[in-house]
Amino acid sequence: MKTSMSDVRSASPSRPGSPARFERVDPATLAPDQLRALRTLRDLIRLAVSRFEHAGLSYGHGTDNAYDEAAWMLSWALHLPVDQLEPHLDARLCDAERDSLVALIERRCRERVPAAYLLGEAWLRGQRFLSDARALVPRSLIGEALDGALDDWLDQPPGTVLDLCTGGGSLAILAAHRWPAADVIGADLSAEALALATENVALHGVGERVALVRGDLFDPVGGRRFDLILCNPPYVNQASIDALPPEFRAEPPGALAGGADGMDLIRRLLDAAPAHLTPEGGLLLEIGHEAAFFEQAFDDLEFAYVPVAAGDDQLVWVTRAVLVERQRRKGAEAR
Ligand SMILES: C[S@@+](CC[C@H](N)C(=O)[O-])C[C@H]1O[C@@H](n2cnc3c(N)ncnc32)[C@H](O)[C@@H]1O
Repeated sequence: MKTSMSDVRSASPSRPGSPARFERVDPATLAPDQLRALRTLRDLIRLAVSRFEHAGLSYGHGTDNAYDEAAWMLSWALHLPVDQLEPHLDARLCDAERDSLVALIERRCRERVPAAYLLGEAWLRGQRFLSDARALVPRSLIGEALDGALDDWLDQPPGTVLDLCTGGGSLAILAAHRWPAADVIGADLSAEALALATENVALHGVGERVALVRGDLFDPVGGRRFDLILCNPPYVNQASIDALPPEFRAEPPGALAGGADGMDLIRRLLDAAPAHLTPEGGLLLEIGHEAAFFEQAFDDLEFAYVPVAAGDDQLVWVTRAVLVERQRRKGAEAR
């Protein structure tokens, strides 16, 4: 008689007389002398994956799975290039190296903070940025659009760029690299984030073209207008905020929470942006997984989605002309 998987599953709960369920290894309880049997980088990456899976970690700050997270963290600790690990995987580690890797693996599981905060750095579009709890870990989808997709929407390279909500400065810096003749301003409400951005601007040697200013929304730029505004604002709706895993709660709360529908700051941004864009200018806005809330909140807006690898409806492009027309319509309706 054939046995199907559903037969196996239905037979597995412990009935009187049925065998006790097999207990898997608990990698959190392995003693130091047991861990000494692990000798190579391959061994330690394998341990990290077992440990991360067992601890139920969350990813999304540069990697999206346990193996990539382990390879990134452990190669960083050993000063090895993460994209060339193969020749080193079976080289043996000395005791001090192994103990250090085990300690790093344990911290990631115990503290549940993004790996970038433990390592002090994050990578976006092949560029290294300093990263710590003063600002969101750099991962904006706008970085990918700057590398190509945005060109379809720009008539010419922007001469002036505002990175609104700049956080640790990654997008302002990527824009400065992308358009070497552009003047770039990074603005943010958080003094802590701007302190980190200042360090990143120095790291990238773009201090002559990237200025950092502090204040609410457009306040710190006065009456200035820009050819291009980039903005990765706090846009996460409250229900999603309430369900965030610890790694995301370790980031500054003001960097993620966008109010009940995630659109609090974006409402103010779209109203104020026309006064800060040049006639041919436009705004590239990240909304992540909030397309449904965005379309509901701005059903009167003619915008375009800019597709990126993560999805077709996570970046919004809107021109000044469209924003001005929307303002005119709103004004007319109000009269
Ligand atoms: C999602 S983070 C983006 C950080 C950075 N641009 C990036 O992509 O990694 C949002 C940023 O908006 C800033 N912010 C929140 N409210 C603001 C406001 N009213 N005016 C200016 N910046 C604000 C936060 O301090 C935070 O750094």
